[in-house]
Amino acid sequence: MPQQSLTVIDNRTGKKYEIPVENDSIRSMDLRQIKVHDGDFGLMCYDPAFVNTAACRSRITYIDGDQGILRYRGYPIEELAEHSTYLETAYLLLNGELPDAKEYEDWIYQVTHHTFIHENVKHMMESFRYDAHPMGMLASTVAALSTFYPEAKNVMDPENRQHQAFRLIAKMPTLAAFSYRHSIGMPYVYPDNDLSYIGNFLNMMFRTTELKYVPDPVLEKALDVLFILHADHEQNCSTSAMRGVGSSHPDPYVAIAAATAALYGPLHGGANEAVLRMLRQIGNKQRVPEFVKKVKAGEGRLMGFGHRVYKSYDPRAKIIKRMADAVFEASGSNPLLDIALELERIALSDDYFVTRRLYPNVDFYSGLIYQAMGLPVDMFPVLFAIARTVGWLAQWEEMLRDPEQKIARPRQIYLGEEKRAYVPREMRRKK
Ligand code: ACO
Repeated sequence: MPQQSLTVIDNRTGKKYEIPVENDSIRSMDLRQIKVHDGDFGLMCYDPAFVNTAACRSRITYIDGDQGILRYRGYPIEELAEHSTYLETAYLLLNGELPDAKEYEDWIYQVTHHTFIHENVKHMMESFRYDAHPMGMLASTVAALSTFYPEAKNVMDPENRQHQAFRLIAKMPTLAAFSYRHSIGMPYVYPDNDLSYIGNFLNMMFRTTELKYVPDPVLEKALDVLFILHADHEQNCSTSAMRGVGSSHPDPYVAIAAATAALYGPLHGGANEAVLRMLRQIGNKQRVPEFVKKVKAGEGRLMGFGHRVYKSYDPRAKIIKRMADAVFEASGSNPLLDIALELERIALSDDYFVTRRLYPNVDFYSGLIYQAMGLPVDMFPVLFAIARTVGWLAQWEEMLRDPEQKIARPRQIYLGEEKRAYVPREMRRKK
């Protein structure tokens, strides 16, 4: 058995150090002892964008980017997508185990009975401009919930945390649907507790004059699967925001608002929206080669392709691609699908994408499915945020329970000016 350590020789001093290796990692703090002189701060790791730095030890989600493997609490994503429901998966992520029948029933009851939002939040929603992006409305109103539940500040109380988790999982779809109804000038639809989590969300989005909204079962199932696929993805940009902001112990509403903001960007949860805009911009199948050429020349990116972790086909994209057929059968075909398929065909055989190991990610096909369901492009990142709320909460819970975690505070390498004397304004000269 080889020794679990790393031998480091500092060529500046000739000194030798034994650094323990655990879980194929070294602790960055073990490098601090490596100094040139006594007053020296010690060696640090420079890792912009955290491409090779583990910020936590987690038991929630496992990803093997080379093999295209994704598991929640040990269960393969393919099996959860096939056999589970979003709410059951949410329970699994938060609690570590799948619920038994009684636990499942209680869990559904709790989530279903926290779907309403305070009427004042509805009034807040009304104050946004008619064309406000629903993601901006979602981030703002979820932050505002902080003011309605002041007891949520008590983040070291596990029971209190659990209560806020019910509320957040239950209320995110209501906030999301209200933001959509606001953007199209339609009256808000209140939650219907007889419907499933997804059925109720569709009800709040689309109900018009019918007395009882009946969701299309194919679309309801498809959205449920999409939510499972988006429920967690370990330490990505928005989850890191949740953990980073949560590490200073604010209530979870403002931390979820920060995570929502991180998700909004086109390089993260905004990518599915960007994919649709890209497909529309390409316009037809014949123009795909010309578009790919521009991407290769550095004029923009192929949205929905590439991933920081997956260097083979994203397993979620595989499931979504299979599901697309059922959805398009129920909703009618989507002309942009032809462009997407052609784009994928060309990109997967092109040396530029092959050598960089760029494959379709979860967002490449999800936007097409959302669109086929009648969901507007602006709502795509919002759907992602609803589904990811449970992942953010599970990671937040794990962080608060971890005795090793402290307030997040990265270091920097300072390259600015040395100490210099202040020059009065009238004496300053442009060089
Ligand atoms: N299109 C064209 N070229 C790309 C793409 C792309 N989508 N993604 C990466 N590349 C190229 C880069 O230009 C770079 O090329 P170079 O080595 O010649 O400079 C190389 O591939 C490596 O790219 P990086 O930017 O270093 O990869 P990184 O891991 O930092 O980025 C990211 C990952 C942000 C996802 C990137 O692939 C991207 O921008 N993709 C498009 C946006 C997208 O789909 N985001 C959704 C991700 S999934 C999610 O968040 C749910």
